[in-house]
Amino acid sequence: MDRNKVDFDYFADNYNNTIIKASEFISKSNFDYFAKYKIKRLKSKIKFSPKKILDYGCGIGNLIPEIKKNFPKSDIYGYEVSEKSLNVALSRYPYLKKFDASNQYDLIIFCGVFHHCSEDEQIEIFNTLNIVADNSTTIVVFEHNPKNFITRRIVKNCELDKDAVLIESKALINKFEKQSYKCKKCEFIFFLPPALRIFNFIEYLFKKIPFGCQYFTIYNKKDSINDNK
Ligand SMILES: C[S@@+](CC[C@H](N)C(=O)[O-])C[C@H]1O[C@@H](n2cnc3c(N)ncnc32)[C@H](O)[C@@H]1O
Repeated sequence: MDRNKVDFDYFADNYNNTIIKASEFISKSNFDYFAKYKIKRLKSKIKFSPKKILDYGCGIGNLIPEIKKNFPKSDIYGYEVSEKSLNVALSRYPYLKKFDASNQYDLIIFCGVFHHCSEDEQIEIFNTLNIVADNSTTIVVFEHNPKNFITRRIVKNCELDKDAVLIESKALINKFEKQSYKCKKCEFIFFLPPALRIFNFIEYLFKKIPFGCQYFTIYNKKDSINDNK
């Protein structure tokens, strides 16, 4: 293992508390809100019914129940480098299946993964995508936004972010474009803390302003057979 790489096995039993501790100055409760909101926004962009969904770097499975709720007919798979985290996810959600490299996935979700990966690991991820994603696969990537000072403060305070190298949206899009992916959407999210969510219409008004705490990008292969996805 890379000398500076955070060992997510170590955090598998207290992952959520570690994040809550680092972000309590902005939100003490409503931890589920973030997963719910991300998958709700993702769902609003997906105009097809994915048969197989892969949560790549699924951690302890925080997104899984939201994926299940929004895509009840899909088979949901998880991939993890942290075996202990994957085991926690599998025991929390028995319907979650282990990643199978012989599958082609219709929808692949990365949430907070790329900023933990070295350049070499990112290349490995693209190599894996060449195997499990085809021209009809849609890839959705959620990332922290380094332009937001609250995000930078949370990451600085968070024990499991010691290896984090935050990636600006344009840099992430460049990485995917170099690998022959076309970026179809880039939207910024989490301008407001959960306590102010009754004003969530602001999230939609500001979606193109590059200062939300996080952002998501959506990709298809450049020669995608289905450009409407
Ligand atoms: C911040 S956590 C996010 C977990 C989950 N996606 C979520 O949203 O709750 C980052 C995850 O990425 C995983 N990870 C780190 N490097 C990875 C790699 N090279 N390939 C796949 N997953 C990786 C870690 O083990 C960790 O579970």
